[in-house]
Amino acid sequence: MTCHHDLIVIGAGPGGYELAAAVAACGLDVAIVERDAPGGTCLNRGCIPTKCLCAAADAALSATNPAPGVFARDMFMDFGAVRAHMQQTVDSLRDDIATALKSCTYYHAQASLTADGAVQLSSGQLLTATHVVIATGSTPAILPIDGADLAIDSDRALALDAVPASMAVIGGGVIGLEMASAFSALGCKVTVVEFLPEILPGFDADIARRLRSMLSRRGIKIITSAAATAIAPAGDASGAYTLCYTAKGKPQTLTADKILMAVGRRPVLPEGVESCGIAVDNRGFITVDELMRTSRPGVYAIGDVADRGPMLAHVASAQARLVAAQICSHSLQGIASDSASIPDIDFGTIPSVVFTNPGAYATGLTQAAAESAGYKVTVRKTPVISNGYARATAHTDGLVKVITDADSGRVLGIHYVGPQAPALVAQAQLIVSHRLTAAALSRTIFPHPTLTELLAL
Ligand code: NAI
Repeated sequence: MTCHHDLIVIGAGPGGYELAAAVAACGLDVAIVERDAPGGTCLNRGCIPTKCLCAAADAALSATNPAPGVFARDMFMDFGAVRAHMQQTVDSLRDDIATALKSCTYYHAQASLTADGAVQLSSGQLLTATHVVIATGSTPAILPIDGADLAIDSDRALALDAVPASMAVIGGGVIGLEMASAFSALGCKVTVVEFLPEILPGFDADIARRLRSMLSRRGIKIITSAAATAIAPAGDASGAYTLCYTAKGKPQTLTADKILMAVGRRPVLPEGVESCGIAVDNRGFITVDELMRTSRPGVYAIGDVADRGPMLAHVASAQARLVAAQICSHSLQGIASDSASIPDIDFGTIPSVVFTNPGAYATGLTQAAAESAGYKVTVRKTPVISNGYARATAHTDGLVKVITDADSGRVLGIHYVGPQAPALVAQAQLIVSHRLTAAALSRTIFPHPTLTELLAL
């Protein structure tokens, strides 16, 4: 029997569950279909468990070097307890999602699309809806190299039951560096092999360079301009692997107990997407317009599976709010879905945080992007060591870079590497997204002594 809903959401990650809960709160009949546990990559295999690992890593680093004049003894780590905390955190947040979805019909099944746009569940039910939202996320990409199946991806790295003695990380992007930073702090000897001349593609060049040198000083070996070419068992009794790579044109090898592949993520499409008339680009992402509408009327795509915006949980959530506003206003007021009341998303100022130790953040244009967009820019670089709080707490390494439009005075981008990056990013993002000027910043009274003063002009 076919069951009809106002909205069917496929995928219960941060995009899907926020959307389903928001539309259900408007009084509409909402179904959400998920084949796995609710929470998506972010909760189950990404942001949240990684932060548990990073928190353990931060604690291990500060335990070995707590503060000038303070010495710790007998630090030891119970990795089983770290994993147990990770699981408890994930479980408790899953409970929160279940509560948020209590007004929705939840189907634990795999969904595919039929040629006429209905949603077929692996459990046998056939569903139809006025609106369908595809929020099926992404999965780790795999390099087409020999022995790729011998590597672990970030999902499996988070499921390790012990810290390996050594690890080679292929890819110096956000995932590779967060894993490298955390496992290194927990006692693993880590080497990062990055294809490009610099780590952190997309980040401001000064910030990426400084982070690389800070991580290197922590003992993480970072090899840039190096392409991984093959993985093979090391051939001894240790169970280790050999990673083959070319660095500056020369073939090289290194041996490690685990090889982690972190070379990007690829979209996950429900079966039947293309045959029901939903356009997909040549990289496999669903093509959407600025309102996240696909080429099939009534069907939207949000989050990592859509071809708009970076693959970040907070982007999926913003897109969920955008689509919820359209569906609710369309259904409740009978007005056109592209009404002026629909909020838009400023993709240019989406904040990005790297939870390495030290961490980094970025919001707005990098210096290179601002210059190539034609701005005449003023660049102010402030070393963290200039700040009183940084010196008092003995965390003085780092840099903040403020990019300003020399003509209007508007702050175009703020980029940072140093202590407390995750806590400081929102300040920078508000400045850039609300188009504040250098003059406005100079009128602001920042609390002393805090790291926020790094942005005082
Ligand atoms: P990424 O695209 O950021 O980095 C992958 C890196 O692998 C690139 O630097 C690339 O040059 C390198 N690479 C590719 N082929 C290679 C080869 N043969 N040998 C050596 N290096 C090679 O992808 P990543 O780090 O896997 O992240 C995926 C997505 O997840 C990104 O969009 C990221 O923004 C998002 N993410 C964000 C987080 C955050 O904001 N804290 C945390 C986790 C993921």
